[in-house]
Amino acid sequence: MKNTGCSGSRPTLLLIGSNGQVGWELRRTLAGIGDVVAASIEGECGPVIDLMDPDALARLISETKPDAVINAAAYTAVDKAEADREIAQRINADAVGEMGALLAKTGTPIIHYSTDFVFSGNLNRAYTEDDTPDPLNVYGETKLGGERALLESGAKALVFRTSWVYGARGANFLLTMLRLFKEREELRVVDDQIGSPTWSRMLAEMTSMVLYRVLHGDLDLDQVGGLYNLTGAGQVSWCGFASAILEASGLDARLIPIPSTEYQAPAMRPMYSVLDNSLFQETFGLSMPDWRLSLTQCLEELKR
Ligand SMILES: NC(=O)c1ccc[n+]([C@@H]2O[C@H](COP(=O)([O-])OP(=O)(O)OC[C@H]3O[C@@H](n4cnc5c(N)ncnc54)[C@H](OP(=O)(O)O)[C@@H]3O)[C@@H](O)[C@H]2O)c1
Repeated sequence: MKNTGCSGSRPTLLLIGSNGQVGWELRRTLAGIGDVVAASIEGECGPVIDLMDPDALARLISETKPDAVINAAAYTAVDKAEADREIAQRINADAVGEMGALLAKTGTPIIHYSTDFVFSGNLNRAYTEDDTPDPLNVYGETKLGGERALLESGAKALVFRTSWVYGARGANFLLTMLRLFKEREELRVVDDQIGSPTWSRMLAEMTSMVLYRVLHGDLDLDQVGGLYNLTGAGQVSWCGFASAILEASGLDARLIPIPSTEYQAPAMRPMYSVLDNSLFQETFGLSMPDWRLSLTQCLEELKR
């Protein structure tokens, strides 16, 4: 490691995908533990990085010489991915493997995110890290490819599998519902898919707390590196989530629960994709709040 907070100088943290909903929150939380190089495809607040270009990734890493890399970039358009397999494969899988191979050479730690959509949702209990993935769609397949490529690359890596991410910024269910509640009197929302809503800010805070301990030598990724589930606690259907948003927002609309069969979308989605967070809690001594609490806090923040 080039330098850490322990030696007096601040570590350089290369954040890839800094304009996404998780990336945007990470910009703030990571700034508390190091100097953030906020790379994004637009290059608004730092260097430009397009993961479609393998040379650009190698260049960025060699120029910034990071003490750690946090990859929040991904091809996240689940339905569009069905027709865009090659692009999703490049960004979600191949580029992540290349990142791992580059960082393995220098022993630089990397934190990366994956998804509950690596599972089909056919179990009737929360998925653990030991369950065998069986994705239903291209997004899930390519994200699974990325997890595997990174973990096999020899890099010191943490992969956090998360789900149903929302926040004050970006394209997400919370902001879509808030907009639709104002535009429509009645909304039909799928009620038979169950998952765990996760506030992007909590994900960013957990990431920063774990990374702080890695950078300070308190956690050794040779021992605790690998795959961890990390989602908001609890579970709910999309319609239940919409109902909680409606109630907490004080807006007025009528929600009509519908089965998945009445919601036509190009990509199939798991019916039950709750992830068991026990391994993360036991390993790092941290736990995510219940999804309802995070939702209330996020809405308070939006009102402010
Ligand atoms: N959103 C969810 O519900 C969810 C659920 C489970 C797991 N995850 C995972 O959590 C992580 C963060 O997701 P998020 O919700 O923050 O996603 P997001 O808001 O869609 O952000 C992803 C970012 O990646 C960037 N990106 C896309 N293509 C790129 C490329 N070729 N080169 C560089 N950057 C590129 C996007 O830029 P543009 O916007 O400019 O394209 C965007 O800023 C991802 O690994 C995702 O798979 C998300």
